[in-house]
Amino acid sequence: MTAAATTRALREGLRDAALERLGPLDGAGFLARLERVGPDLVEALTAVYGDRTDVHALVSAVSTDALEAACTRALPLRRLDREREVDPTWFLSEDVVGYVAYADRFAGDLRGVAERLDYLGELGVRYLHLMPLLEPRAGENDGGYAVADYDAVDPRLGTMHDLESLAGAAHERGMALCVDLVLNHTAREHPWAQAALAGDPTYRAYYRFFPDRSEPDAFERTLPEVFPDMAPGSFTYLDATGEWVWTTFHEFQWDLDWSNPEVFRAMLGVLLRLANRGVDVVRLDAAPFLWKRVGTDCQNQPEAHRLLQALRAVSSLAAPALLLKAEAIVGPDQLVPYLGGHDLQRPECHLAYDNQLMVLLWSALATRDARLAAQAMGRRTAAPTGTGWVTYVRCHDDIGWAIGDEDARAVGLEPFSHRQFLAAFYSGRYPGSFASGVDFQRNPATGDARTSGTTASLAGLDVALRSGTSVEVDAALDRVVLLYSVVYAFGGIPLLYMGDEIAMRNDERWADEPEHADDNRWLHRPRMDWDAAARRSARGSVECRVFTALQRLGAARRSTESLRSDASVRVLAPDDTRVLAWVRHHPRARPVLCLAGFSDDATSVDVGLPATAGVHDPVLVHSSTERLDVHDGRIHLPPWGFSWVTSP
Ligand code: GLC
Repeated sequence: MTAAATTRALREGLRDAALERLGPLDGAGFLARLERVGPDLVEALTAVYGDRTDVHALVSAVSTDALEAACTRALPLRRLDREREVDPTWFLSEDVVGYVAYADRFAGDLRGVAERLDYLGELGVRYLHLMPLLEPRAGENDGGYAVADYDAVDPRLGTMHDLESLAGAAHERGMALCVDLVLNHTAREHPWAQAALAGDPTYRAYYRFFPDRSEPDAFERTLPEVFPDMAPGSFTYLDATGEWVWTTFHEFQWDLDWSNPEVFRAMLGVLLRLANRGVDVVRLDAAPFLWKRVGTDCQNQPEAHRLLQALRAVSSLAAPALLLKAEAIVGPDQLVPYLGGHDLQRPECHLAYDNQLMVLLWSALATRDARLAAQAMGRRTAAPTGTGWVTYVRCHDDIGWAIGDEDARAVGLEPFSHRQFLAAFYSGRYPGSFASGVDFQRNPATGDARTSGTTASLAGLDVALRSGTSVEVDAALDRVVLLYSVVYAFGGIPLLYMGDEIAMRNDERWADEPEHADDNRWLHRPRMDWDAAARRSARGSVECRVFTALQRLGAARRSTESLRSDASVRVLAPDDTRVLAWVRHHPRARPVLCLAGFSDDATSVDVGLPATAGVHDPVLVHSSTERLDVHDGRIHLPPWGFSWVTSP
């Protein structure tokens, strides 16, 4: 049977139930959606499971799951479904700014977060990502990425009811809520894993067990190590059964076996239940790792994409307002396919992290040279229509120096030594560095190191405060704002990482909590300093300067339609190699030329540059000095300055 014929049969099968249970309007909507996404679902599941299960029965079961979920969806969420089906690009609007925080570190618990929504409102936040909040295992849990119960909120943060209330309160303010779904692995304390340990064959088939080292050894020949230092290897020996189990991350995080269709269905259930709690965006944690294939790095496998496409199809059937965001921290060529930008053009995730831009910005900051960023960003395939990036300066993870070899060589850099330089620079080991981060997971076998540290500390605020010169403090703060200026204007939802808005520095006491002591990513996961935040209105304070600058970036973005996430981006080649220059254009608006000067000194570009980007007689949209400085045939930027201009 063709995918279209299977879809027709499904539609007929669900027709009466849909119309009766959802009513004539929503029922018709459900059936129309089934017709649209059915073929994607059938094709994706056939590609993954066709050789091991009756796909027709599987598709029929998951479509029924979707109908059940649609029937229990609360009215306010159904209203959101309709609104977002009318404007499926709602999240790509120029007025969407994001904020990322641990609920407990930001505000104690979920109720505390609800009380801080006004604060987020000051920053124009319309998208709030709360770090993992489902019930984790006790003790060490990788910051919540080891889930023991997907249907309960971490009791320290509150209850499912609190989560629903928070989502409702956010929606009243036009704010969307993003929550993590850890779908590659569960905690070994999860009931599925415990049942597997007890020998239940159904649940043993949820994970990957090996009787001896032969298969693990075969896989490890090509598997990179995620945590070579704190959790070496990708398999863990189980004393209880004398077997090995697949654990890509920590030994307490057991990888699910997605080649089992029951795993797909179980995790789909989790996803749909979260959507019905009012969650708007689900961050699909470690998405590239879902499928394993011997002889590969077990990331980005075609089946992993098909699985995401199938999740997308079913979730859009049950909860069309829901967005999927891929956490795929992979190389530039592997990244765009998570947005569906591969030869199949089948919808996949709506959003993905722009880790490329993030890494390249830090590289430009250290080298005072924007050529590598221009080279790599200039050749990247655009995000497919209806999708977008989330752009960011820092997140809760380390920075992995994922500079493409080809890009580095194209600008005359030796790739390996440039990555080494960046790790050395940001740990402060490199002579003259302004940064004070630390190495994360240095791997003696490969020589690789990643970096931990907050934005402000990596941008030089600690060193500047220690040296005591106000010039250096100014430079550090200007660097923070410069990086955010790019993130607000390059294309994508800009994400503000908690504490950056008040230039919070490294948490020197990060190791005091015993379960954090071997993971220095906690260096840049501080508790919110509300005393410092109170200084955001004290003119001249560090907090006020950064907070105000971010508010202005948000306001300028909101007033500029060409800065929408889905407006096109074209990278230019200005005659000053320290300047990153790009033009954004949306067909409904005038193009905007953006400039970012990566230098301790003033920089400038030829006054003719805007015209080459379609910007004539440039007027200021926004800049670090709030004015446009043109003289002697050049547009000038102060040290670490930026400028956005458009046509009158
Ligand atoms: C993701 C998270 C990271 C976590 C890992 C395992 O990469 O961002 O913090 O350690 O997944 O869940």
